[in-house]
Amino acid sequence: MQVVMTEAAEVFITAVTLQALSNRPVYTSQWDTREPNNMAHINLTRQRPPADAVRRLPPEGGEKARGGPSLSQEADAVLVAPASADFMAKLVQGRADDLLSLMCLARPIERCPLLIAPAMNREMWAHPATQRNAAQLRADGTTLLGPDAGDQACGEIGDGRMLEPETLAEELIAFFQPKRLAGKRVLITAGPTFEAIDPVRGITNRSSGKMGFALARAAREAGAQVTLVAGPVALPTPRGVMRTDVQSAQQMQDAVLPVAGAHDVFIATAAVADWRPAAPHEHKIKKDGSGRPPAIEMVENPDILAAVARLPKPPYCVGFAAESHDLLVHAQAKRLRKGVPLIAGNLGPATFGQDDNTLLLVDAQGHRELPTASKLQLARELVREIAERLKTFK
Ligand code: C5P
Repeated sequence: MQVVMTEAAEVFITAVTLQALSNRPVYTSQWDTREPNNMAHINLTRQRPPADAVRRLPPEGGEKARGGPSLSQEADAVLVAPASADFMAKLVQGRADDLLSLMCLARPIERCPLLIAPAMNREMWAHPATQRNAAQLRADGTTLLGPDAGDQACGEIGDGRMLEPETLAEELIAFFQPKRLAGKRVLITAGPTFEAIDPVRGITNRSSGKMGFALARAAREAGAQVTLVAGPVALPTPRGVMRTDVQSAQQMQDAVLPVAGAHDVFIATAAVADWRPAAPHEHKIKKDGSGRPPAIEMVENPDILAAVARLPKPPYCVGFAAESHDLLVHAQAKRLRKGVPLIAGNLGPATFGQDDNTLLLVDAQGHRELPTASKLQLARELVREIAERLKTFK
């Protein structure tokens, strides 16, 4: 990462701080004498010749002799964060009176995308001039990240907050993911369900929801419009994902079935309780002094995945199989029983709550292991596998 600061940025934070954080010298001026050719605005976004190529250049002519690039890295993108209203206006007009704006203008536009994270007062953001500038920047191929809504430095509340830095990092990563599911709608269930026994007790399981949430993020990164139906979990909603929270299997089914047909893909990662108390007690069940626990009659929950797969025109359905042994055999059987084209098997007890997982993909053609990796990595691979299969699914 190469940091470039404007004069205004240096009023807020020093270049030394960002140098320490980025572990590289920070550039603040187009007149930086460290650049042999005095062209930091060109050099910062250009392809660097490999070190030995520079050495092999003839003494006269060629890049080295012209005082060509001396910086070691080529920029894959320029991210301006925070981007003020003034800087946006500058970009729109193609003005270039400092290093950052010069660099944005001089970058190879086809190869080096520009992303900006607007940050300003809500009135400034809402002003027709800024909105006009935002639209023009989009039309020019700039990607706007945010702004967010919330508390502002001025004490007001509204649109114009810069996205949180971690979110910006996630958005930058998402920007570079191949858009394999562009234009597709993906519906995902995640987490456990909670089946009430009485107002204070219930039956649930140890599913954390991490795999489903990672899949929601990965599908959205791949360009899909994602709906996530989540049981009770303590996870933040991945950016750009539409989330509905539910408690019980019945509620999950009610949230999924009416909309499933409007989706291209359904991924059932939720660990849905197989049974629920037939009639939850209205009041907390009390000990009756007999020493005998209450008998709780159970009934079977609807199988959401099988119900979606049975729709007249079902989406491409992907089920998960959490098993404790004989994964392949159980996953194959489950695939047929549920009538779905693809099952991702995993060893339930080993993966519940963990950040890593191993998946065994089972479809009509055979099976393939996705080796142990983070759930996000596996989710991206699974998205790739699903996108491939979608090409031939009608
Ligand atoms: O039958 P089993 O619970 O092992 O099946 C697991 C797969 O089926 C998972 O994809 C899970 O989300 C889905 N499922 C469901 N509704 C149920 C039970 C499981 O959608 N009631």
